[in-house]
Amino acid sequence: MIKERNGCIEIEKFLDLDLLTDLIEFTKNNLEALTKKEFKNKESDLMNRILENDQFRALTEQYSDKVFSDLNQNKTTNINSKATVFEGDTELHYDKCYLNWVIPLILENNKEPGLIIFPNSRKNPFKFLGLKLAVMLFGSPFVLRSETLITLFGGHKIQYCVNHAYIFDGFNSLHGVVRHPDDGNRCVITINFRMDD
Ligand SMILES: [Fe+2]
Repeated sequence: MIKERNGCIEIEKFLDLDLLTDLIEFTKNNLEALTKKEFKNKESDLMNRILENDQFRALTEQYSDKVFSDLNQNKTTNINSKATVFEGDTELHYDKCYLNWVIPLILENNKEPGLIIFPNSRKNPFKFLGLKLAVMLFGSPFVLRSETLITLFGGHKIQYCVNHAYIFDGFNSLHGVVRHPDDGNRCVITINFRMDD
């Protein structure tokens, strides 16, 4: 099932069970390497099984077209895919990617929602400047955890679930990931479609 959430698209139970099982097994056997971000080179077969998935291709096409028509730019196909084990927060940032896919594989003892996103904040001067100022004054970790600031700037918390896929526009939407100190291993696949330099 596909849900249109504020700031992102969520697809429930995205990968078929065989592929999910293979990915989780690989991840558990390679946690150390994944921390060093070596997944991409070592296991391209597994990643290719995602990239060649019909639904993955169709949704990428559909949402890329939308982003590019908004940006009024020519489309590019520069793909960066990897699986990583997060160790801490990811600071609030914009990406150079016009389309971001996130597929969580392992979420151990997960206490935080996952993604905090401020949809289309780049296009909105109030949000853009306000958030920049808030991050400068209070720091990214504070903003990521402040219900007041998240609400004030129209942000949303996206609760990650294993094997759901999340698609968002990281170029226009400020975003970051929160981690609780007691959280266990977390591994997510990210597939980013970059704009050419
Ligand atoms: Fe990002």
